[in-house]
Amino acid sequence: MTASPAGPGSDHPGRPAAIAAVQVTKRFPGVLANDKVDFHVDVGEVHTILGENGAGKSTLAAMLCGLYQPDEGQIFLSGAPVRLRSPREGLAKGIGMVHQHFRLVERFTVAENVVLGDPQQARFIKATEVEARVGEIGERFGLPINPRARIADLTVGQRQRVEIVKMLYRGADVLLLDEPTAVLTPNEVDALFQTVEAMTAEGKAIVFISHKLGEVMAVSDRVTVMRAGAVTGEVATADTSQRHLAELMVGRPVEVETRRGQSPSDVALSVQGLDVVEDGQKVVDGLDLEVRRGEIVGIAGVAGNGQRPLARAIAGMIKPSAGSVSICGKDVTAKGTKAARKAGLAFVPEDRLGTGLVPGLSLTDNMLLTRKRGFFVNRSEARAEVETAIVDYEIKTPSTEAQARLLSGGNSQKVLLARELANLGTPDGPQVVVVSSPTRGLDIGAAEFVRGLLHEARERGAAVLIISEDLEEVRSLSDRMAVLYRGRVAVEGPTDQLSIEQIGLAMAGVAEEGAA
Ligand SMILES: Nc1ncnc2c1ncn2[C@@H]1O[C@H](COP(=O)(O)OP(=O)(O)O)[C@@H](O)[C@H]1O
Ligand SMILES: [Mg+2]
Repeated sequence: MTASPAGPGSDHPGRPAAIAAVQVTKRFPGVLANDKVDFHVDVGEVHTILGENGAGKSTLAAMLCGLYQPDEGQIFLSGAPVRLRSPREGLAKGIGMVHQHFRLVERFTVAENVVLGDPQQARFIKATEVEARVGEIGERFGLPINPRARIADLTVGQRQRVEIVKMLYRGADVLLLDEPTAVLTPNEVDALFQTVEAMTAEGKAIVFISHKLGEVMAVSDRVTVMRAGAVTGEVATADTSQRHLAELMVGRPVEVETRRGQSPSDVALSVQGLDVVEDGQKVVDGLDLEVRRGEIVGIAGVAGNGQRPLARAIAGMIKPSAGSVSICGKDVTAKGTKAARKAGLAFVPEDRLGTGLVPGLSLTDNMLLTRKRGFFVNRSEARAEVETAIVDYEIKTPSTEAQARLLSGGNSQKVLLARELANLGTPDGPQVVVVSSPTRGLDIGAAEFVRGLLHEARERGAAVLIISEDLEEVRSLSDRMAVLYRGRVAVEGPTDQLSIEQIGLAMAGVAEEGAA
């Protein structure tokens, strides 16, 4: 694409693109994050930026919304060159970005967040007016949200809706969505795509960022593919295939996994008729449970209804008095933690420091503890992995050699997650993960990062079992869920088919007593 006097052309002759970047370059110390990148999105269309982690997608979006300024090149808005000195200026010109990490104030309500920082609104607008408009926008674009709810009480999917409503409220005509599906359940993804359709139907231009081929094919009109900071291709979705996009993305022919929509894969974790007795009490009572590859199953329930012994029995830490546990087809019942791990299990226990990490060892040595698969042997690799984890999870530690006991609870949780979730679902890595309260104690950014990892592991074919007393955590992450009551499954089913009331009754044991 070249810049004509009227600005860069769109795919529709005679009509300029809603927003375009022409030959933009952005450098960070030691990194060429964007190298002469061309990109445009048209009015009423969805244009995806596709690329692997580190390809430069977020950097490009940041220049389009005014967060970063290009070192070279030019941004055009409706055909006219613009300089956007800040996101505020971008928004004033109709460009709104929804970041990977949300930027909402937790203790404020939805309506308060929507007008926060808006110079037009200041403090003079009536709360009821804001609430009415939030409601109206929600209706129009399929973004139902209670304007009076406090952000702290919302699920991640709901928070994302607030971010989108906020941009629409401020009059954004160009919306940039940076990996919006990374934190969503499959049903929430479907709802988001309907919102995207409603937005384009009203003439909004959508920049969608993703590295997932299936959803890119489903949602976009056009796709610009990036690799290592440069554009490797720009194609209309109608003229391409997942295989072609994958090749542009990784730079060589690849086998495309079209796992979504495939028949359910094999059972990777199977628990049959499990009994666990503690202090003469049956704390797990004839429990059956299956987790297939490519799904996330959640276990909810009030603490003390068998969650902990169930997890420990699967991980080989305690011996069940009856029943069996198998991992990837191998019977590991009462064979110990090493056997479970060898069969393909990764385990994140409730008790992070103690059963998870060794307090007196350094982070690097903690990373090395469970790495005996051959793909990972030496200390400098372990240290490099800790260094990456420190950045990805925003771990606060004096160094990679600090002792685990010196870290705060949230930070040691992050180290443990980084160790256990690495390579999850890949041929080299574990195939099954059992994780207790994966996002408990994490700040919002790290919690989103962990959700993204679990969803990605599912896409790669891992079987994921989440055990948590936080019902929202279970509901927002799992495809299927079960409620434990007195060591038994009180109710189970696809997460979107169980009502809160049903779950609540089961947690309280009402379903069980009613049946008896
Ligand atoms: N603020 C920054 N400072 C330094 N390096 C950065 C910064 N933002 C991104 N990078 C680097 O630029 C490259 C592209 O990053 P990014 O645009 O975030 O990729 P993507 O969104 O495709 O994963 C990466 O190598 C990343 O480490
Ligand atoms: Mg990014």
